[in-house]
Amino acid sequence: MLKQWRKRYKQWRKARKPLPPTYARLPEAVRDRLATMYAWAPQLGSDGALHEMDGHTRIDPNKGCPLFDLWTQTKPDVSLETGLAYGFSTLYVLGAMLGHPSSRHIAIDPFQNESYHGIGAQQAGTVGLAERFTFYEESSLDVLPRLHGESTRIQFAFIDGDHRFDGAFVDFTLAAQMLDEGGVVLFDDLWMPSLRKTVRFIRRNREDFTEIPTPARNLAAFRRTGSDTRDWRHYVGF
Ligand SMILES: C[S@@+](CC[C@H](N)C(=O)[O-])C[C@H]1O[C@@H](n2cnc3c(N)ncnc32)[C@H](O)[C@@H]1O
Repeated sequence: MLKQWRKRYKQWRKARKPLPPTYARLPEAVRDRLATMYAWAPQLGSDGALHEMDGHTRIDPNKGCPLFDLWTQTKPDVSLETGLAYGFSTLYVLGAMLGHPSSRHIAIDPFQNESYHGIGAQQAGTVGLAERFTFYEESSLDVLPRLHGESTRIQFAFIDGDHRFDGAFVDFTLAAQMLDEGGVVLFDDLWMPSLRKTVRFIRRNREDFTEIPTPARNLAAFRRTGSDTRDWRHYVGF
């Protein structure tokens, strides 16, 4: 069985562009986990049983590695992601967290058990970081205001949950309220007009955010470089 998944992983590697150099720097435990995931080997769910995955919901290494690099450069005490799914992106974050012992990570996904058998929520446990990982099986629309109400501060946010314009835009707006100066927010799936529109809003309207170039076409990143001093009438078309 293991042989079969190894073969699949090798085929996947062969069919893709070379892995980014960062991939080799990921902790071995995380690389091992990712290898079985990219081979779409059945994974452990929240019920303790192995489950098939859907074969498409994931972040590729060409975007996971910049996520790992940006997290590592930012060294957040608290990071957050909307959209856990099978936890590919989470594994890149967990890999970075292994080098930063005081950090913790929050993940939010209302469909974790309904659509993903709870596989994403198991990832932290598989690399020994369960105690530094908090998962909310609710919509980010409910969780983010609550975290803000509890005075949570974050230094890193990965927005990859509801991909509709209003969902991504609201995720950004709510996460930005908690993001410290120097913190980073990252968006996936810039191939989608809804995500491009959200990012265009930030470029045009949020002078407190400065765009950071990323090596991946479908990934956009911004660093918070000031506070939001907009007048109540402020609006720039986007
Ligand atoms: C593209 S997938 C995320 C992939 C994941 N980041 C990875 O790299 O493996 C999008 C996820 O967003 C979740 N989602 C949808 N609406 C959401 C919401 N309102 N709040 C949080 N997550 C949401 C979906 O259940 C799905 O798991």
